[in-house]
Amino acid sequence: MEKICVIGVGYVGLVSGAGLSEFGHDVTCVDIDEVKINLLNDGKIPIYEPGLQSLVESNCRNSNRLHFSIDISKSIKDSSVVFIAVGTPQKKNGKVDLSFIDSAANMIADNINDYKIICTKSTVPVGTGERIEKIILSKNKSTMFDYVSNPEFLREGSAVNDFMIPDRLIIGARTSKAYNIMKNVYRPLYVNETPIMNTSVETAEMIKYAANAFLALKISYINEIANLCEDVGVDVHDVAKAMGQDGRISPKFLHPGPGYGGSCFPKDTLALSHLGKKFNKPLKTIEAAIEVNNNQPMRMIEKLNNLLDNKISGKKVAILGLSFKPKTDDIREATSVKIIPELVRLGVTIHAYDPIAMNNFRNQFPDINYFENWEEAIRDTDACIILTEWNEFRGIDLIKIKSLMSEPVILDAKNILSISKLEELEFKYDNVGRKISL
Ligand code: UDX
Repeated sequence: MEKICVIGVGYVGLVSGAGLSEFGHDVTCVDIDEVKINLLNDGKIPIYEPGLQSLVESNCRNSNRLHFSIDISKSIKDSSVVFIAVGTPQKKNGKVDLSFIDSAANMIADNINDYKIICTKSTVPVGTGERIEKIILSKNKSTMFDYVSNPEFLREGSAVNDFMIPDRLIIGARTSKAYNIMKNVYRPLYVNETPIMNTSVETAEMIKYAANAFLALKISYINEIANLCEDVGVDVHDVAKAMGQDGRISPKFLHPGPGYGGSCFPKDTLALSHLGKKFNKPLKTIEAAIEVNNNQPMRMIEKLNNLLDNKISGKKVAILGLSFKPKTDDIREATSVKIIPELVRLGVTIHAYDPIAMNNFRNQFPDINYFENWEEAIRDTDACIILTEWNEFRGIDLIKIKSLMSEPVILDAKNILSISKLEELEFKYDNVGRKISL
């Protein structure tokens, strides 16, 4: 078993650190954010992620294999494998901000005391591995370390499961020594016959971007088809279902909606598009996917306005769902963040409700109205939009909704409600690509 240091206790670092300790390694997660580390040492998890709390608890308390510390230097010195899992935010110009990566690399450069594997999990542009190697080499001999790129494919809301049972493992290593050590780090998966691909560092970096951008492309594609279905009188769900039955296409990521959000797809598509431009190979498909995704939330506002007979100003609108997807409190790049300020600008009074993400949203948007349950949120409103497909909205009581609202008007932007029920109850409604009664 290895002694592992994970730098950065954000989403990826925390899930990976906890997962690696579950595999049997001795893991110390470190961060410059003392508040977060103190919180973790008190047994509290700074993010909402199903299964993470119990995984952290059992590995901290029961087996004592998971630790949290602000002493980054000591933790680097003490470990044989150092994971870099710091944030790689997007700069205003759309490029990736590598300052946290650089500072982690400098910390490593200053504290390497014997041979170590330095492994990046954060999503970084192609060439970042070489950049990190150069920083470490500026102060150390090349025999002191091997660099590895091991991108994560964790979905928020199911990240623990994705870590424990991944579709595949990508290990971008330059030497067989490094590859073998990494294979050992993931031994439980190896035993489970998880496909492991040994690539170059640059290939691993590229795989991550290409995979994420492809999924984003798929979503934008089905959203465009959905928009067209509305005009030609076709239910997009039938189209997506039949498309998905073709093994070459697969049914996943063909669910239309108000556009993709989250911390990955919007940032990664932009970064890949920048990379294309940098090498004079503009990625036109990705650029189109980004454009479609920028327009999709605005289409939802047009739909709502249509439902309200083009008299949106002065109306009360309930928003059900604020997080970028269910089972997370993350609101980064969520459709709600794009739609709500625009509605406010148009003179709409917002009544918002989300089962988990409300506090995060309130911090960013303190001036809208928040309610503790959906019943209170929709009471006396003129329209309601569903923006996140939380389970409690899937089975929502439409009869109750109708009795509480001023007008029974629903925009189901996630296509989760039964059209026949809405018709039966005489709702004025719309959705994305399914309303076939023209
Ligand atoms: C994604 C990737 O799935 C993961 O592999 C990568 O490492 C990180 O980015 P995540 O951002 O957590 O994970 O969420 P994901 O489930 O992929 O959804 C992203 C967005 O796409 C959400 O806003 C979701 O609502 C939207 N989406 C997804 C659709 O609109 N339609 C779909 O069919 C699927």
